[in-house]
Formats: sequence, C-alpha cells, structure tokens
Amino acid sequence: MARIIDAPLTTSESSGCDPRAVHGTWGALDAAARRGLAYTPEVAAETAPLYEHVKHVIPAVEWPAYAPLISAINKMKRAKHAVILAHNYMTAEIFHCVGDFRGDSLQLAREAAETDAAVIVQAGVHFMAETSKILAPDKTVLIPDMRAGCSLAASITGADVRLIKQRFPGLPVVTYVNTSADVKAESDVCCTSSNAAAVVEWAAREWGVDRVILLPDEFLAKNVAAQTGIKIISWHGRCEVHERFTAEDITELRAAHPGIVILAHPECPPDVMAASDFAGSTAALQDYVVEKRPAKVVLLTECSMSDNVAAAAPDVDFVRPCNLCPHMKRITLEGIYDALANMQHEVIIPEDVRVRAKKAIDAMLALPKEKPRAFEIGRPEVAVELV
Ligand code: 13P
Ligand code: SF4
Repeated sequence: MARIIDAPLTTSESSGCDPRAVHGTWGALDAAARRGLAYTPEVAAETAPLYEHVKHVIPAVEWPAYAPLISAINKMKRAKHAVILAHNYMTAEIFHCVGDFRGDSLQLAREAAETDAAVIVQAGVHFMAETSKILAPDKTVLIPDMRAGCSLAASITGADVRLIKQRFPGLPVVTYVNTSADVKAESDVCCTSSNAAAVVEWAAREWGVDRVILLPDEFLAKNVAAQTGIKIISWHGRCEVHERFTAEDITELRAAHPGIVILAHPECPPDVMAASDFAGSTAALQDYVVEKRPAKVVLLTECSMSDNVAAAAPDVDFVRPCNLCPHMKRITLEGIYDALANMQHEVIIPEDVRVRAKKAIDAMLALPKEKPRAFEIGRPEVAVELV
C-alpha cells in the first residue's frame, strides 16, 4: 500500500513531531499578511480567550501568526451563516479556535444533519464533506482542499461493491463511512468506528443471516469480527496511518514508560488492539481519557488527537508517537479562510447517487443512539474472508 509519509514511527516524546509544523507557523504569519490581516491590539484582545484552549500546544510567540486568521474566519462565519465541522484530527488552532462542532465522524454526520446554518465548512477529509452534503443537500458544503482524501476511501469504488454484491447475493452490505458517495450508494447501511459492531449485529439480525459484508477496512473488519463473532467478508483497504502501528511499538512504549495506558483506534491491526489497554473510535478514546484520567497515556491514532484531548485533560501526561494523516493535514487555517472568502471548494454529488447514499447513512442514524462502543480487548481472533 502506498504511503505518503515514510518516516519511521517514533515512540518517545522527545522525537515526536509537531503537526502544525507541516504548514509552518511562519507560513501562517505570511498567509495572514498576504490576505491583508494583521495582529492588531483588537485582534489580540478578541482572540485571547481562544488562546487559553491551545496554549499547551502553541507557544505565545507563535500566536500572532494564527490569531488574525482565526479572528477573520470567525467574523466571516457569522456574516455568512456558516458553521465549521472540525474532526478530532484537526490541528489545535483549527479544532479549538474556529471549529463550531467537534468530534468523530459519527458526531459530525449528526451535526450536518441537524444544523440550520446555510454553509458548512468541513474541516476534515473529502468523504466527511460528502457525508455532510448527502445529509444536508440544501446547504452549501465547502472543503478547504479538494485533495484531502483518505486511503480507505480510495481503496474501493462503487463498481467494486457491485461485483461483491453479485458474488454474495442476499448478504447485507455495511460500509464504513470512510468511503465515497458512490460506494455508500451501493450499500445497505453505513457505520463508523463508534458503532461498527452494533451495525454489523443489527444487519445480521435484520437480514436473518450469519455473514455480513463489511467494507473496505480489513483491520476494522477483523476487529469487528472478534467483537461480534459474526462471519465477515471484507476488502483489502487499510488506513495508511493506523496500519503503521505495531505490537513491537507497544512493547517499546511499555518498557520506556512503565504504567502507561495504551489506547488504540480500531483501524489498527488486531495484534496492536490485543496489546493495548482500551480501543475505540476517536470519540471513545477522548471519553476514556477525560473520564479515567490515566497518569500517562498514549493514543495510537493520528497525532493531533493528543493535542486536542490534552486541552480537556491538562493533568494527563501524553506520550506522542507521530503518525500524521497527510490528508487531514491539508486542511489549514488559511485554506479555511479562503474557502469562506471565495466560497470554494463546493462539494457536489449527482442527485441519484446522493439519494441512494443517504438511505445507507439514514439507516445508520436511525439505530438507537448509544455511547461510542469500546472494543473489548482480548477477544479471540475470528477469520475474515477478504475478496
Ligand atoms: P473516527 O470515526 O473514529 O473519527 O475515525 C475517522 C478516521 O478517519 C479515523 O482514521
Ligand atoms: Fe483516512 Fe486514515 Fe486519514 Fe482517517 S487517518 S482520514 S482513515 S487515511
């Protein structure tokens, strides 16, 4: 599988990276100046309360680079009746300072369905913006960078799903929300990492079958199969961020940090899940840290998550191995500013595809709302058929 980032995984804080460095603080300063924005005393006063949420990540000396863009974005949001949906993997200045709704894929999809704003700016990747457009067709949905993709979404097409359905007639097709609208349109029901096991159990009951097609993430499928005991047919898609964590990383982390609590996202390989202490969606990981307050923790997921959760749990010590999602990192403050200023880049989905994709998302949203379901660690592995 092609990887955009080839840097080896590091497991010590000192060798961790700064996700904001991908765009460059001084790039942001330049970006503000090029847009005629300056760090005036008014901007300083107005943004001071927001700085409180990010001061653990952004040094005071760097704040003048971000504050003018943040102030201008927040003003434009009000003027254009826009909201920003910010995924947990956004950098802290986006997540805390311009995001109106923050959360995992499922939470953001629910917000898109419910908001009465005229414009949605998706601070996340393209499939998330498509999900918003599918659920809110009358709203203008903007994504700051059209190149913000996802290795899982890129791994499968609608035509692939049609072939799989021909091969396994009568079985329900559950697709991970990390897929294109075309793929969702071929599916019976969507799921996210917050509800994947519940959706698969529901689909097996509803169709009266003992096998379910769950696409396209091979590791999520294996992890769900272990949770539910339901036979699963899946695909060879992988998340290029989570597939890089290994059980050896966990051994190293435990040796270097005795007592550390290890939390994993279910897009990680099954042996990584088995060696962890807790596993769940990004929302489940956030809830765990905020509720349980472990003294020292590592989140085996995208880098920015730790920065964002740390704001809500300042007493927790985070060890930060750096696995960046290059697609999420395409979303920058200046990109969000340009999106609102120029009303770019609008997400458009052919109506027939949108209507069919909506059925699959609606089927998921109609299921009883429950807390993000944790994955129980230590369940025996169950074989998954990969097509
Ligand atoms: P969540 O649904 O847990 O937010 O995950 C989305 C994602 O892209 C994980 O890599
Ligand atoms: Fe896709 Fe992985 Fe990035 Fe999530 S972290 S958007 S699954 S590539």
